[in-house]
Amino acid sequence: MLLLRSYRRLAASGLFPSYKSAIKGALPLASLLRPGAVAAYATSASPPKLLFRQLFEHESSTYTYLLADLTHPDKPAVLVDPVDKTVDRDITLVKELGLKLIYAMNTHVHADHVTGTGLIKNKIPGVKSVISKASNAKADYVIEHGDKIYFGDLFLEAHATPGHTVGCVTYVTGDGPDQPHPRMAFTGDALLIRGCGRTDFQGGCSRKLYQSVHSQIFTLPKDTLIYPSHDYKGFTVSTVGEEMLYNPRLTKDEETFKGIMEDLKLDYPTLIDVAVPANMVCGLQDVPTKA
Ligand SMILES: [Fe+2]
Repeated sequence: MLLLRSYRRLAASGLFPSYKSAIKGALPLASLLRPGAVAAYATSASPPKLLFRQLFEHESSTYTYLLADLTHPDKPAVLVDPVDKTVDRDITLVKELGLKLIYAMNTHVHADHVTGTGLIKNKIPGVKSVISKASNAKADYVIEHGDKIYFGDLFLEAHATPGHTVGCVTYVTGDGPDQPHPRMAFTGDALLIRGCGRTDFQGGCSRKLYQSVHSQIFTLPKDTLIYPSHDYKGFTVSTVGEEMLYNPRLTKDEETFKGIMEDLKLDYPTLIDVAVPANMVCGLQDVPTKA
């Protein structure tokens, strides 16, 4: 609940809801809902609040996501899973769109690329890094299951989805009349489109991954949009309902899934020895340089 505590200090910045409303955001989801409100939002003539961009880094086939609250005067924005190689592109886009980047967030400690978080923090002072406490990585804010990360009046909710790594989280857009509809889930490598992340290193566990996806992702509304960290086949988006029907691994029973994951026999990731130490400090800025 570190982020909630931090609102006391940060609410004065104007980028956050008041501490009172942040606390309101921590109440059970049912308390945020009004009957029929979601349908009213979908048909409302009011301007869209959410700006959303899906960005791609081709060497590691990684998606980075940019989200911003357009109706807030500062247009506060977050980047999910930025990559070091595309930081300049992302920062240029943020500037061109007139956004104020407040968080660079990671779904987990990546093994296949270096996060852009550290470079972004160096280039845009004031941006805070976010990662899960369970990852044991360093960041300005370490979040836990159930925490809400606000940007303007919109928020992402952290769902712990360990299994690919010990600290994986899925960030899900809020549930409520003023939040995006349908909801959007940024699943990292826990759930890929018609696939999932490997479970053979970084504290991975196939049983945990199976249980995470079934309890934290497949329980979301079926029209929830799935935005993964990677895609290697050209897919860009799926839905919870689609993956519940067609995911070739996660539609199986837990025992069969475990067998599938044990038989993958994947190569050792080429960048893992560079990427993981850098990503444990959320980027390059704290990594000691060789003499
Ligand atoms: Fe990963």
